Amino acid sequence: MKKILFLGDVVGAPGRKFLMENLAQIRAGTQADFIIVNGENAAAGSGINASIARDFVASGIDALTLGDHTWDQRGFENDLPKLEKICRPANLPEENPGATHLILTAPDGFRLLVFTVLGQTFMGPKTACPFRCAEKKLTELAGTFDAAFVEIHAEATSEKVALGRFLDGRAAAVVGSHTHVPTADECILPAGTAYQTDAGMCGPHSGVIGRETQAVLGRFLDGRPRRFEIADGEVQLNGCLISYDETLKKSVAIERFRLS
Ligand SMILES: [Fe+2]
Ligand SMILES: [Fe+2]
Repeated sequence: MKKILFLGDVVGAPGRKFLMENLAQIRAGTQADFIIVNGENAAAGSGINASIARDFVASGIDALTLGDHTWDQRGFENDLPKLEKICRPANLPEENPGATHLILTAPDGFRLLVFTVLGQTFMGPKTACPFRCAEKKLTELAGTFDAAFVEIHAEATSEKVALGRFLDGRAAAVVGSHTHVPTADECILPAGTAYQTDAGMCGPHSGVIGRETQAVLGRFLDGRPRRFEIADGEVQLNGCLISYDETLKKSVAIERFRLS
């Protein structure tokens, strides 16, 4: 059995600190073979930078993924190709720098393919079709991996559910991110793919999806832009833990994960 822990979007310093401080305990507690973390909001809520990415890897994270905020930090396009264990969404235009997937290898040689696709419904970045992109990745890389973890970073639940159905039996897991709110629909799809529409976020939960309440509320009330500071208060780590059976070549369990 291989255990895959995915943790949703890390938000700001509170999310980073709480995650890195507790990573060894989380690894021991979950017996995770692979810990995959979305870091798209790690730098003050917007993007990530080289120093944060290196800190995450040094703390023991096996893979870092990104989302629509990939390029929010100035100059990150120059740093990304030099960083290890991090990939940008696979369906951004091919001119975008950075790896489009990772292959993680367990001590026994088991290889896990990891990549992210961005949704196209209610999303900003220019992207290719996430369905065809994911299919192409799985086909083109066949033989180089034993199981695949596919992250769907998207707003619309329908698009995420549809990708899960589309890849059922072809990926070990299809897990959503981006909305920062965990969904209660974790399941094993009929052909053995573990699925959850959104894993939730790793960050402060007292505000509005990681940002300070009054600023977000003010924007909704009067429509004027303002600076959204990172919220404070209780920090939660949210994600899911998947059990993949190498003999059956199927996922057999998925459970929601939370640490607060
Ligand atoms: Fe996002
Ligand atoms: Fe996010």
